[in-house]
Amino acid sequence: MTDPILKISNLTKRFGGNTAVSGINLEVQPRETIAIIGPNGAGKTTFYNMVSGRMNPTEGKIELEGQDITGLPPHKISRMGVSRSFQINNIFPEMTVQENVEVAVTAFHGHSRKLFNFASRNRAVQDEARELLGKLQILELADRRAEVISYGDKRLLEIAVVLATRPHLVLLDEPTAGMTPDETKRTTSLIRQLADTGDYTFLITEHDMDVVFGLADRILVMHRGENLFVGTPDEVKAHPEVRRAYLGEEEEEEASA
Ligand SMILES: Nc1ncnc2c1ncn2[C@@H]1O[C@H](COP(=O)(O)OP(=O)(O)O)[C@@H](O)[C@H]1O
Ligand SMILES: [Mg+2]
Repeated sequence: MTDPILKISNLTKRFGGNTAVSGINLEVQPRETIAIIGPNGAGKTTFYNMVSGRMNPTEGKIELEGQDITGLPPHKISRMGVSRSFQINNIFPEMTVQENVEVAVTAFHGHSRKLFNFASRNRAVQDEARELLGKLQILELADRRAEVISYGDKRLLEIAVVLATRPHLVLLDEPTAGMTPDETKRTTSLIRQLADTGDYTFLITEHDMDVVFGLADRILVMHRGENLFVGTPDEVKAHPEVRRAYLGEEEEEEASA
């Protein structure tokens, strides 16, 4: 076993009396794709918020490539190679598709690279943005305004934006939510292609079990903030408690303050 890219120890988040994430332990190996499943309110987004620095954990530790990143602000964690998407679209509607990616690439270059002059810098940003659009197979939409492209293409654009900071660890929050079955299939196969390049480690929260089983090397099953089970897709399919808790009845949302 190699050193984990991400090591989570006893990660816990409480909101008042409500424990959203409770004592999660997880080691993620480089280039693994981990799916995080669990009913609404299980704590998946809160888990992401802590790993990406948007929320401080109440307890526990987050290590990225051996470095303690617990409680660091989002921009620092981003510069260390962690990038995340949001459940809700996070793109600028009046800008073109390509400009949306250029904004993200520029933000990254500003920190990490000095190019001699404006023109060559601009050129490099454009090339990189177009390369990312190509990876997501939306290059032909480069000059459209983002607001006019389909919902599925917007979500792919969002992934291009997420990849613009050249992350090693990519957190996707329900990448196929709201997509048509065809868009879901296309997105699943694109994420699989990105995973197969070996350039990325993915954490993916997802409700669609076909997507989960099609992408995940391992699955973390969360239930009421807790780690119910971690295992391969086959182990998850065979696990009676997991079937009951997640593949079975819908959980009732608990009214909490
Ligand atoms: N900012 C917040 N303030 C208070 N409670 C929150 C906040 N964010 C999430 N929660 C609560 O934490 C629990 C887990 O929510 P969340 O992480 O969004 O779950 P999931 O993404 O799995 O649906 C829920 O009970 C939710 O109401
Ligand atoms: Mg969520």
